[in-house]
Amino acid sequence: MTDQRRSDGSLRHLLTLADLNRDELEMLLERAQHHVRRRGDAAPRSDVLAGITVANLFTEPSTRTRVSFELAARRLGADVVNLEMQLSSRVKGESMLDTVFTLESLHVDVFVVRDAEAGVPALVADNVGPAVSVLSAGEAHLSHPTQGLLDVLTILQRKGSCEQLAVAIVGDIRHSRVARSAWQALRTLGVGELRLVAPPALMPAAEEFAGCRRYDSIDDGIRGVDVVMMLRIQRERFADADIPAGDAYFERYGLTPARLALAQRDAIVMHPQPMNRGVEIDSVVADGPQSVIRDQVTNGVAVRMAVLETLATRPAPRRG
Ligand code: CP
Repeated sequence: MTDQRRSDGSLRHLLTLADLNRDELEMLLERAQHHVRRRGDAAPRSDVLAGITVANLFTEPSTRTRVSFELAARRLGADVVNLEMQLSSRVKGESMLDTVFTLESLHVDVFVVRDAEAGVPALVADNVGPAVSVLSAGEAHLSHPTQGLLDVLTILQRKGSCEQLAVAIVGDIRHSRVARSAWQALRTLGVGELRLVAPPALMPAAEEFAGCRRYDSIDDGIRGVDVVMMLRIQRERFADADIPAGDAYFERYGLTPARLALAQRDAIVMHPQPMNRGVEIDSVVADGPQSVIRDQVTNGVAVRMAVLETLATRPAPRRG
C-alpha cells in the first residue's frame, strides 16, 4: 500500500481516509471550517500556494469535484491546469504515467486524479518525484477522500459532533466510493451508529463496513436517525443487478417526505450528487428545509482548500 506520509509523518498524498487518525481528520476539518463562507460573502483568498501548479487529471466525468478543486487551488494562489483527457494525447495511446511524467516536466507540483480503475491514484503517487503530491478525486468504487471530509464537515456544522448520532446511508452502497470514505471518517470520529440500507444486490460484501447494521427496508433503516445520506445507483459500475426497475426502485427505496418523517424531526438529508430526482430522492425532500445538499457542495471548496494547503505548501527555505 502506498504510504501517504513523508518520513516526518506529515501528509504528502491523500488517497484514502482509512489510515488518517482522529487528530489528522480534525485538523483538516478545522482548517476547512476556517475557509467556509456563507453564500453571498466574498470568497476567501490567499497566496499560500503561489508558485505551485495543480493539474486536474479526470478520466471520469465530474462537475462538483473538478470545479471545486480548481476554485480551491486558485483561491490559494496556485496555477491550475485542467487536462481535457479526450483532447489529450491519451486518446493517441499515451499511458497515464507518460502523461504524468510530461506534466511533471512542466513543473506540476500536485496531481488531482479521478479514475474508474482501482489503483490509479496510488500508481501516480508511487511514480512521481518526492516533492510532488497526489490527491484522489475519486478512485473506482473505493475511495473519495475529499468527499468524505466534506460530508463529515457538513454533519458537524449541523450536529456539533458525531458521537451521539445515528447515520443511515441509503442506496447503492456496494459501488459507492462516497459511502466508503464517509464510513472511514465517521468511524474514526466515533459515530454513534451507522446503518446501511440497500437492496441485497447493492449491499457491500459482509466483510466491509464492520459493525454496521444492514437493512433491506428503508422505513426500518431510517427510523429515528439523525442523518440520512442518499446515494445514486451507479449504473456505470455494473452490467446487471437484481434491483427493482423503474418506478419500483423509488417505491421501495426512494426518500419521500412521508419516509423522512420516520427519522428524527431535525434529521438532515445529504446526497453527494449527481442525484436522480424521482429515483432515489423526491424533489420535495432534495429541495426541502432538512436538505443540506447545497451546503455539501459549498463545503467542497473549503475542504479542498484545507487539503491543498496542508499537503502542498512548500517548506520555508532554510536561512544561512
Ligand atoms: N460528488 C461528486 O463527486 O460529484 P462529481 O462527480 O460531480 O464530482
